[in-house]
Amino acid sequence: MQVNFNNHKKTNLIKFAYKNENDNPFFKANAGEILANPSENFILLGLGEREKLNQEIFQKAIYDLTKKAIKLDLNELSFEKENIDIENEEFLSQVIEAVSLGSYNFDHYKEEKCGKIENINFPEDLDAENSNAIEQQLTVLDSQAFARDLVNLRSNEIYPETLAQHVKERFADKNVNVKVYDEEQIRELGLTAYLEVAKGSDNPPRFIVIEYLNGPQEQKPILFVGKGITYDSGGYSIKPSNGMKTMNADMGGAGTVIGALDAISSNQLKVNVVAIVAACENSISGSSYKPGDIIKARNGKTIEVDNTDAEGRITLADAVNYAATEYDPEFIIDLATLTGACLVALAETYTGAVTNNQETFEKLLAAAKISNEKIWQLPNDDTIRKYNESEVADVKNSGGRLGGTITAGQFIENFIEEKPWVHLDIAGTAYLSKPQGLYEKGATGIHVKTLYNLAKKYSK
Ligand code: BES
Ligand code: MN
Ligand code: ZN
Repeated sequence: MQVNFNNHKKTNLIKFAYKNENDNPFFKANAGEILANPSENFILLGLGEREKLNQEIFQKAIYDLTKKAIKLDLNELSFEKENIDIENEEFLSQVIEAVSLGSYNFDHYKEEKCGKIENINFPEDLDAENSNAIEQQLTVLDSQAFARDLVNLRSNEIYPETLAQHVKERFADKNVNVKVYDEEQIRELGLTAYLEVAKGSDNPPRFIVIEYLNGPQEQKPILFVGKGITYDSGGYSIKPSNGMKTMNADMGGAGTVIGALDAISSNQLKVNVVAIVAACENSISGSSYKPGDIIKARNGKTIEVDNTDAEGRITLADAVNYAATEYDPEFIIDLATLTGACLVALAETYTGAVTNNQETFEKLLAAAKISNEKIWQLPNDDTIRKYNESEVADVKNSGGRLGGTITAGQFIENFIEEKPWVHLDIAGTAYLSKPQGLYEKGATGIHVKTLYNLAKKYSK
């Protein structure tokens, strides 16, 4: 998508209108309602009642407009900034984001491809100091779309090896060091618990490490760890077919950390960031791990496998431990489509958070707020932690039904070596069962923006 500042060009010019401010019986100016006026060569976009207008309503109206415009085969929209009271910079970024997200369509498997908006035109006088910020924003949006594609692709196309290939290709020309470890090398790195989850699949695991070290040498790196289960059948604790069907999306965390590194490196932030993905499939076969097994993690702790469907936390145990010990991290953020319980608690609207360090969490939350991405903190409570206790091993991989999102996070905490850490459960927010806000059904690329904005705060 390209953003232009060319006043004279007014292809598909959008004018804003408010409810109860005109007497056209065919156009109420409800938020998102459009009225094309071909003879006068502009389109009226309703924004609802003037007093009630806020960012959410405004962006949703632009998003709806975009979807309708694409249906009409338009690929260019022009905006004037009249009849609306928003600061220039905000106006530009809100419109650009809504049009870009409205243009996202996952049509990879369709013969007939969807159109998209290729050009947005704004008045010349809005250009001035904003062009750099806009370039940056477009890059981040593109990285987010890349993350969404990775997660939307199905498991017969994206499995650990192909995921690693996509990462290598995407970062080939960049100032980024991509390391991909195969099964043997993963064993040498000591990621034994992760291998237990991986061993049931014919598709071998790949441990992916993306290093972007472009900050001062003395700056400790920020570590992002993403759950990368390319398909989660549940294993022997098998999922019912309804719950299984969308489990190609059990790599939402991986998509996000890869997308974030893509955005950070494209914009050449002066910061040290590393992303880690322990990619594998949770499959059923004669060589799968089984309920009741006791396995050893990289840090020596033993895990009782209470349920093979609680596989993500096992792979993350080793991944975060690697992050904590191979680097000297400023902090670690892990992102994972980890629990159905998170959907029950926070729907598909809020990401659930568990932390051992309030200060780090507050920084993350501030970055999430400026990104308009919703995160809700859950209590990291010692009474609840006890649910993870095992009678035979150091810890159990399921704490049961109660407080499921909290105990999943607390399980991971056992492997974090006391480093500052925030766990984000994106089971609800990474993949939508129906459209929500500025997102269609399917993968959202949630928190690419948050991680980008967090890293930017550390950019020197
Ligand atoms: N990938 C799932 C969690 C999930 C569920 C993500 C629905 C997105 C939508 C995870 O691996 C899982 O199966 N978790 C279990 C844990 C339980 C066995 C302790 C769950 O939530 O049921
Ligand atoms: Mn599972
Ligand atoms: Zn899973």
